[in-house]
Amino acid sequence: MAFPEQFLTELMLKTDIEDLISSYVTLRKRGNTLVGLCPFHNEKTPSFTVYPQTQSFYCFGCGAGGDAVTFIKSIENLDYVDAVGLLAQRAGMSMPREDYHVDNSLSKKRRRILETNREAARFYHSYLMSGEGKEALEYYHNRKITDRTITKFGLGYAPKEWDSLLKHLKSKGFSISEMVDAGLVKQNSKGYYDMFINRVMTPIIDVKGNVIAFGGRVLDDSKPKYINTGETLVYKKTNELFGLNFAKESKENSLILCEGYMDVIAMHQAGFDNAVAGCGTALTPEQIKLISRYSDEVILIYDSDEAGQKALSKALRLFKNTTMKIKVPVLSGGKDPDEIIRTYGRDKFKGMLDGAANDTDFAILKLREKYNLSTTQGKIDFLNDVIKILADLSPIEQDIYTSRLAEELGVDKQNIKLQLSNYEKSNNRTQKRKEYTKAVSDSVRNNIRIEYDTGLPIKLVKAEESLTGLLIAFPECIKCMNGIIAEDFSTPVVKQAVKIILDRNEQGLDFGLYSFADKLSESEMNKLSEMVAKASLNQNPTAECKDCISVIKNEKSKLNFSKKEEVSDEEFRNFFKNNKQSKS
Ligand code: UTP
Ligand code: MN
Repeated sequence: MAFPEQFLTELMLKTDIEDLISSYVTLRKRGNTLVGLCPFHNEKTPSFTVYPQTQSFYCFGCGAGGDAVTFIKSIENLDYVDAVGLLAQRAGMSMPREDYHVDNSLSKKRRRILETNREAARFYHSYLMSGEGKEALEYYHNRKITDRTITKFGLGYAPKEWDSLLKHLKSKGFSISEMVDAGLVKQNSKGYYDMFINRVMTPIIDVKGNVIAFGGRVLDDSKPKYINTGETLVYKKTNELFGLNFAKESKENSLILCEGYMDVIAMHQAGFDNAVAGCGTALTPEQIKLISRYSDEVILIYDSDEAGQKALSKALRLFKNTTMKIKVPVLSGGKDPDEIIRTYGRDKFKGMLDGAANDTDFAILKLREKYNLSTTQGKIDFLNDVIKILADLSPIEQDIYTSRLAEELGVDKQNIKLQLSNYEKSNNRTQKRKEYTKAVSDSVRNNIRIEYDTGLPIKLVKAEESLTGLLIAFPECIKCMNGIIAEDFSTPVVKQAVKIILDRNEQGLDFGLYSFADKLSESEMNKLSEMVAKASLNQNPTAECKDCISVIKNEKSKLNFSKKEEVSDEEFRNFFKNNKQSKS
C-alpha cells in the first residue's frame, strides 16, 4: 500500500461515497441504496447502485464497481495515487510526506514517462518548425495542413539520425530506461536507438492533456506507413481515442468517429471539432464507453473499401447494444474525410454529414446501389429486397419508410404494405417450421438428423433425392411409383420435379433433364442435376427405388408421429420398436 494505514482510515472516514458520487451522478433513494444513471456507460434506466452501508457502488448494466477511490480513478481517469490525492484534497487533508510512500514507484514511473513524452513532443515539434525539418513541413503544407493546425495538434518531425531524440532527452536529464519505458527508444545488439526515425509525428494526447503516445508516419509510400507507440504504463491503445482531448470541448452533442489520425486533423482544421479516431485498432468496448460518456450520438465514418465496411458493420453491432444514436453518412468523391475535404471543401463535406442517414437508411442506400431503379424489373427486385429490411422495424418506422419508398419509386404505398405483410406471413411460416423441426428432434430423440435448409430429416431428403434422380436417369423406375403422388414428398424441389415427371408421363412425354429447365430456377436445376448424376451410377435402379420409397414412408411416419400433441404409451413403445428395426 502506498499510504500509511492511518492516513487512509482517516480519509475513508472523511469521505462519504454517497456525497462523493452525488457530485457526478444524480442519485435517487431506493430502499437502503441509491440508484442513478451509470456514468461509465450509456443507459436510459438506472442500473448504477450506491451502497452507503458498505461505502461501495456497482452497476448492473456494465459491471463497474468498487469503492470511493475506484470511482474517482475511473471517472477522473487518474491512477491510484492521484485519485487518493484528489479525495484527500476534497476532505481537506494534506497528503503524507513523500517518504511515507512505501511503494509509489509505479505512479512515479508513470509521471516520468509522461514527462519524457512531453519533452519528446516538444523536440519533434521544434525540429519540424526549425529550418532542418523543411522537408516534413512541406509534406504537411502539401496536404493543406496549416501551421496553426500543426501547433494546435503539436505535430512534429523525427530527424533522420538514429539517436537524435535519445541525445536530446539525455541532455534534459532523462535516463535511458525512462526513454525505453516510454516506448521512445529501443535496444538492439549495437545499442540504443530512436524508435521514430524520419517520420512526421502525431502526439496522442489524453483528455487531461498528457502526451501518452505517438503515431509516426513516413513521408512517402514506404512501409510500414505508421509506427505507433506500443503498450506502456501510460498507454493502452484499445482504451484511447485520438482527438478526444479537443472533441470533448466541442459544442456538438455528437462525436464523429473515423479511422485515421490525418482525418481527425483535417476535420478539426475544417471546423468539425468533434472528430475522433481509434489509434490503429478496431473499435473496442472501452472506446464505446468513452464515446458514450462524452456524447449521445456517434457519426460513423469508415473507408469505403472492404476492410472499412467490415469495420463499420462491427462498429454498428457494438453500438447497437447502447442507447447511442448512430448515423452513417454516405460519403463520396474520396476515400476518407481528409481527401474529401481537401478536394471539395468543408461545405460539401458538411452536406454529406447532414444528409447522414441512420443505419436503416444506410442499409437501404447500400441495397439501392445493387439495382437499376430506372427499370420496372429493377424496382420490383429492389422492393422485394427492401421489405426484408423493413420487416425488422416498428410499425411506425415501417409506415415512414413505405411512404418514402412509394413516393420515390412511384409505386402505390398500399402495394408495398401488402408485399411487406405477405413477407412477414411467410417469414412466420419459416419460423413455425423451425419450431416444428425443433419439436421433431426434441420429442423423437432418436437421432433424426435435420437438414439445415429444409428443416427435414436428412434421411428423408436423401431418399427423396435419390428417388428423383433414379426416375430421371432410369425412366423405367416410374413403375415403382404405384400411386405415389408429388404431394407425398417433402423436399420442395423434389415435389416440383416429381409433379413434372408424373404430368409428362401421363401425357406420354419423356422426362429427361431438359424438360425441367423452363420450370425450375437455376439453383434448383443444379440440385436436380446433382441427383441425376448420383443416381446414374446405380447398378440396380429398380431395387434402389423400392428401397428409397420404403425409407421415405418410414421417415414420414416418424415425422407424423412427432407432430401429434399427445401420444399414448402404446404408440410410444411401438414407435421405438419400429424405429429400432428401421435402423441397421
Ligand atoms: P490510414 O491509412 O487511413 O491513415 O489508416 P491516415 O491517417 O488516413 O493517413 P494518410 O492519410 O495516409 O496519411 C488509418 C489509421 O490506421 C492506423 C493509423 O492509426 C491510421 O491513422 N495505421 C495505418 C497504423 O497504425 N499503421 C499503418 O501502417 C497504417
Ligand atoms: Mn488518409
